[in-house]
Amino acid sequence: MRFTFRYGIDAPFWVGFFIVIGLGFSLVSLQGLPKSMGGLIFGFYMLLTGLWMFLYSTVIKLKHRYVILKLAQVRAGDQVLDVGTGRGLLAIAAAQLGCKVTAIDRWSQWDLSGNGKEAFKKNAKREEAADIEIVDGDARQLPFAAESFDAVVSNFVIHNIKGAADREQAVREMWRVLRPDGRLVISDIKRVQEYVKILTPLAAHVETKRVFYTFPFSRIVVAYKKCTD
Ligand SMILES: C[S@@+](CC[C@H](N)C(=O)[O-])C[C@H]1O[C@@H](n2cnc3c(N)ncnc32)[C@H](O)[C@@H]1O
Repeated sequence: MRFTFRYGIDAPFWVGFFIVIGLGFSLVSLQGLPKSMGGLIFGFYMLLTGLWMFLYSTVIKLKHRYVILKLAQVRAGDQVLDVGTGRGLLAIAAAQLGCKVTAIDRWSQWDLSGNGKEAFKKNAKREEAADIEIVDGDARQLPFAAESFDAVVSNFVIHNIKGAADREQAVREMWRVLRPDGRLVISDIKRVQEYVKILTPLAAHVETKRVFYTFPFSRIVVAYKKCTD
């Protein structure tokens, strides 16, 4: 198992919070056993939550990205858009597969540690992923023409947008820029049923997959756009 901090720690405040509180509770409760058994269980639970989130960011998401790209059925030469790319997790892997990639983000530090264009570029250089177009922007207003991508992918992004109406706008924007016969793949830790509800009337077919190796557990929605005959 190889750890890397290259793609940042997701929700870094919460990871730190769970680990520190979990460790504190566990240590204090250990002194007061057997009376403090409840505190010890709570402390272990918090600690485990923080450590699993840390493991997701440093190990698991490097595998998870290929699950998403496989579901998006990306092939060399495809135009791929990564929405909320962060430090380039999906974009860089897609470029390595030979896709022409565009990546967009508003670079929130709260959502991802060390987030930013420079961190993205450094990762792309290190992983020899060339020619990725990096765009500053918001998922709710994608600055791209309609039907310009063969696949649109997004990992752990849309739940960060406050308000159901704004999340719906983001999902509809991703759908707008997708070509007929294209695939939209959204992986997220919550709100996934909202996305399914929006996409079902629009898509030729929608499927979902539950994922239990990420923490929090997540779901992936795959929506296929109808072909134009
Ligand atoms: C938890 S990080 C995930 C980053 C990357 N997809 C990954 O899996 O490593 C969430 C990302 O979504 C971005 N983000 C949040 N809201 C956004 C919005 N409305 N438009 C574009 N990006 C957004 C954040 O800046 C952050 O980079």
